[in-house]
Amino acid sequence: MKLFVYHTPELTPTDKVPDCAIAVDVLRATSTIATVLAAGGEAVQVFSDLAQLIEVSEKWPSEKRLRAGERGGAKVTGFELGNSPLDCTQELVAGRRLFISTTNGTRALQRVQESPAVLAAALINRAAVVQYLLEKQPETVWIVGSGWEGSFSLEDTVCAGAIAHSLVKQTKLSQEELAGNDEVISAIALFSQWQRDLLGLLHQASHGQRLLRLECHEDLKYCSQTDILDVLPIQREIGVLKSQRAK
Ligand code: MLT
Repeated sequence: MKLFVYHTPELTPTDKVPDCAIAVDVLRATSTIATVLAAGGEAVQVFSDLAQLIEVSEKWPSEKRLRAGERGGAKVTGFELGNSPLDCTQELVAGRRLFISTTNGTRALQRVQESPAVLAAALINRAAVVQYLLEKQPETVWIVGSGWEGSFSLEDTVCAGAIAHSLVKQTKLSQEELAGNDEVISAIALFSQWQRDLLGLLHQASHGQRLLRLECHEDLKYCSQTDILDVLPIQREIGVLKSQRAK
């Protein structure tokens, strides 16, 4: 297995696809997707464009759908939900499809949607993602961070590092053997430094600070936890993620 980390969709190669692509948006799209599917949501369907989301979701029975729209960290007017995983209770989401568009996270998923296997990872479901990789042993794996409008983000890189660190621990591969690019080594270093204070790191991250200004303290706490959800969001048709429970 060779692992590559790309910090943003813009930095991700366009001339090839990996055997497995993992989109990461710790704050907060992939944390929300994992939470919805763990709470019994039927599926999560992602859109970069809000108008397209509305058009497609209109064709779905209203009692079976929820619409979530986020821009700049805030809920888009007229949508039932923004992008807080804490709003996605079992009571609200069970049996329903979440149609979601966010500033960066849904773009990262769309960037790799042609790959044969597409997963959504966050810190909260890191172990389930690692378990899938150990079982399937894909030859090439890309972790694509969402970043913020084209820029590097600490929270997505630390999650990439958490996945890589766990793979090194659970395989016979050394860090050098696993790493397909330098970003993997630096992601592992970031995780190694912050693994005991991930909440502290999210507080330093620029998007963490943006969310704190929007009073989203509890979201940061929730998203900083590791391995609390045994759920694997996996793409079943282009743009549609469903849950595959980790064994
Ligand atoms: C994004 O897609 O940029 C984020 O998920 C923003 C957010 O925190 O809602």
